Amino acid sequence: MKFFIDTANLDQIKKAQDLGILDGVTTNPSLMAKEGISGQNNILRHYEKICNLVEGDVSAEVISVDYKGILDEGKTLSKLHPQIVVKVPMITEGIKSIKYFSNNGIKTNCTLVFSSGQALLAAKAGATYVSPFIGRLDDISQDGILLIEEIRHIFDNYAFETEILAASIRNPMHIINCAKAGADIITAPLNAILSLANHPLTDIGLAKFLDDYKNTN
Ligand code: G3P
Repeated sequence: MKFFIDTANLDQIKKAQDLGILDGVTTNPSLMAKEGISGQNNILRHYEKICNLVEGDVSAEVISVDYKGILDEGKTLSKLHPQIVVKVPMITEGIKSIKYFSNNGIKTNCTLVFSSGQALLAAKAGATYVSPFIGRLDDISQDGILLIEEIRHIFDNYAFETEILAASIRNPMHIINCAKAGADIITAPLNAILSLANHPLTDIGLAKFLDDYKNTN
């Protein structure tokens, strides 16, 4: 299972990278805006900085919603750095673009996936990754993890190579449940990833070990 970090914050990316468990980065226009990155040139430079910090794939999202616009943006993004994956929204123009990119050796991440039908279409078009948004489904009382299970089942039935990149992850239980459901990758904020390490019995046990060592040395 691969771990991606879902942020455009360079400090957090560096911290995840330093942990030694980071396989890639996902961003989106909202995450870029959160870091105050605006203007095409600044956005492209920021993607380069992210690529230089990590070794894995870095998803960079297009903002066009028409075929030609998505292709133009995607080509510019993919030429920026070999690690860039073009993130394309799940719309019909997006599907056509994913097919084009797939035929031309450009990696894609189909984003804003909320149903197994959407995931199937993206896989048929040759997407490298599909990103089902777990947390946003939970927000409207639909079980996001059930969607991961369903997509896993469908992809396994036909041996689709498209990887399931579970997104909109908000907490450590989302990560664990995605792992149980067979997601290939989770992308999560740094705090959700770090929370996996926490357990009060670990803290109590460690304090006791250190005390016992101190009392006998
Ligand atoms: O990867 C998609 C993610 O950034 C969306 O997360 O928490 O805004 O639903 P959220």
